Amino acid sequence: MSKHENCSDCQNPYTPHPARIIRILPQIPDHQLFQIHIRFEDQGKVFTYRPGQFVMLSVIGVGEAPFSISSSPTHEGIIELCVRRIGHVTDALFRLPPKAMVGIRGPYGNGFPVEKLEGNNLLLVAGGLGMAPLRSLLWYTLDNRSKFKDVILMYGAKNPGDMLFKYELLSLLDRTDVKCLLTIDKKDESAIWKAHVGVVTTLFDFVDIDPNDTYAAVCGPEVMFKFVLDELLKRNFAKDRILMSLERNMHCGVGKCGHCMIGYKYTCLDGPIFTYWDAINLPEMV
Ligand SMILES: Cc1cc2nc3c(=O)[nH]c(=O)nc-3n(C[C@H](O)[C@H](O)[C@H](O)COP(=O)(O)OP(=O)(O)OC[C@H]3O[C@@H](n4cnc5c(N)ncnc54)[C@H](O)[C@@H]3O)c2cc1C
Ligand code: FES
Repeated sequence: MSKHENCSDCQNPYTPHPARIIRILPQIPDHQLFQIHIRFEDQGKVFTYRPGQFVMLSVIGVGEAPFSISSSPTHEGIIELCVRRIGHVTDALFRLPPKAMVGIRGPYGNGFPVEKLEGNNLLLVAGGLGMAPLRSLLWYTLDNRSKFKDVILMYGAKNPGDMLFKYELLSLLDRTDVKCLLTIDKKDESAIWKAHVGVVTTLFDFVDIDPNDTYAAVCGPEVMFKFVLDELLKRNFAKDRILMSLERNMHCGVGKCGHCMIGYKYTCLDGPIFTYWDAINLPEMV
């Protein structure tokens, strides 16, 4: 066997690993959680990643698109992707038969600097599909609970029917090692909803945060970023203690095509996790 046969430097970075969808868990309309097992020729090898990283998923014969890994690396063997059906690739993905094969490249991106976060409080603020990458960080911290101080999740959705991972998150309300604050924008009279009502920033009234030993991780729609950043800055968070997961159009995922560039940064290599400090130095970023 040539010494380069299994050498990652010599492998084509665009070749996806064969992977099988092992379970599909419907979430809310047009959003499904795909549990995927990635196959390696080396049977002992497992897919490792950091919370906040993403993969390129390909539907064979259709195309590929980037998706945040929604599961925690503490659960080895499978990855979970929470996908919104929106276009070409996602439409084809939703039409695949059970147990279908897909391709996975990655993991890509920097991910959250989890070692740096250790020993601090963590405040996770998510809106809508922004819960997908933050769920990975949430479960990572809960599975390594002794390494972190207080863990607070604030998650907002339009209404109860739009809340991703609703039952999983509602089950956190009973736990004492995480403060889980869930809110919906507006309550429909007919809906049974016992948590908060109001935009996600209204949840800041229910927490007492020390900005000096807290990191905030934020992900959600663009409009949410502005209001959450205002709240964090009002509470004197340092700009490098605010971490944001950002999405940009991506093609290669490996710093070759330039599609994801913001100023001099490649979102696929330098991101998708940026500090607010990075953002203000790259004005087009947020
Ligand atoms: C780092 C990163 C992480 C991401 N993580 C996730 C994730 O966890 N989950 C997730 O669901 N997505 C995620 N995305 C977004 C996802 O990659 C895009 O939605 C992707 O373009 C979908 O591919 P597609 O071929 O299905 O859509 P395309 O056909 O390429 O459509 C792309 C865009 O065209 C528009 N469009 C197409 N069809 C419609 C339509 N019917 N209605 C309205 N607009 C339409 C939309 O603006 C859409 O975003 C991520 C993106 C990045 C860069
Ligand atoms: S996606 Fe090609 S350079 Fe980032």
